[in-house]
Amino acid sequence: MNTNQNYKNLNESYLFSTIAKKVNDFTSQNPDTEIIKLGIGDVTLPLCSAVIEALHSAVDEMGEKETFKGYGPEQGYDFLKSAIQNYYKTNNVNLDLNEIFISDGAKSDLGNILDLFDKDNTVIVPDPVYPVYVDTNIMAGRNIIYTDANENNNFLPLPDLSVKADLIYICSPNNPTGAVYNKEQLKQWIDYAIKNNAVILFDAAYESFIDDNNLPKSIYEIENAKKCAIEFCSLSKTAGFTGTRCGYTIVPNALNFNGMSLNKMWLRRQTTKFNGVPYIVQKGAAAVFTQDGQKQIQENLNYYKQNAKVISNTLDKLNIKYTGGKNSPYIWLKCPNNMNSWDFFDILLNKIGVVGTPGAGFGKNGNNWFRLTSFNTYEKTQEAMKRFYNLFK
Ligand code: MLT
Repeated sequence: MNTNQNYKNLNESYLFSTIAKKVNDFTSQNPDTEIIKLGIGDVTLPLCSAVIEALHSAVDEMGEKETFKGYGPEQGYDFLKSAIQNYYKTNNVNLDLNEIFISDGAKSDLGNILDLFDKDNTVIVPDPVYPVYVDTNIMAGRNIIYTDANENNNFLPLPDLSVKADLIYICSPNNPTGAVYNKEQLKQWIDYAIKNNAVILFDAAYESFIDDNNLPKSIYEIENAKKCAIEFCSLSKTAGFTGTRCGYTIVPNALNFNGMSLNKMWLRRQTTKFNGVPYIVQKGAAAVFTQDGQKQIQENLNYYKQNAKVISNTLDKLNIKYTGGKNSPYIWLKCPNNMNSWDFFDILLNKIGVVGTPGAGFGKNGNNWFRLTSFNTYEKTQEAMKRFYNLFK
């Protein structure tokens, strides 16, 4: 038996596990410090009442012989897929029901989708980037080409026509930088993908934070995207499902390569390796797309957006450069004095008990950058930024 040697090429632990360990070590040595976490993008507001009611009633259904559900369709129940189909219509995107696949969140599908692609495919990944894109490809032994996202391109790299790639990862609004592609910029990536016979893996997990109507929430708002893009989305940040787990992946029927349909391959993959998201959770997820659900999640999203304002106002006052915070829950700031981001992490943790995410954890272009999230409570975000201000003023 030989183990997968590619694992030797990974960092010892996943970024957020490394941070959690550092914070745990600090807390056990400093039990009296009140730690405020603006690190991992985990929500703090509870599920909205429309979702809670739907979950309760689904639990009741599971307790009655007449309405009890066993295995469901691996790709999700039609009631949820129809709700998502209607949601896309509000952005002028028409999807067939069979193009929508319900999942337990974007992270798993972003990793699992690689089952469809040859090991020798070349992958373009922006740097900095959500580490899952990189780690899953390292595990599979794929060749990764990094494209620089930095101050010079406002953290929105565009295709380099001299580079040939087969798979392209795009996250917009971006994790970690908060930068958002406009339609013209995304079109350049779509044109590039079509020219290269490549597939774009488009992570739209933060689309619900977009306020600017001119910015695309789905890549399918742009012509020809269905010929080259798979879209991943999640209710984690949109509706507080980080612990409840539900997302969806769109694999258009128009994606045909080497005489094979990616939609059919993904269905085959999911029916073989996945037994679907629990009925109860799918019922809760469907409630997100009702009129009440949409209104209630907007209130929660507005709450986080207000936190983002607290953070960006403090950075403005301190003259610290940042991106994001608008149309995004992430604020990506330049470490004062061009400090190394892990050193900056240690300073914030040790001096003011505030946890963020070092930019270096997302790639070399993040070495002097740092990510804060707007997902904590308003009070704690205010307190964290008060401490931050006092430290750097
Ligand atoms: C993050 O903090 O980058 C995200 O919460 C991680 C995730 O969504 O898996």
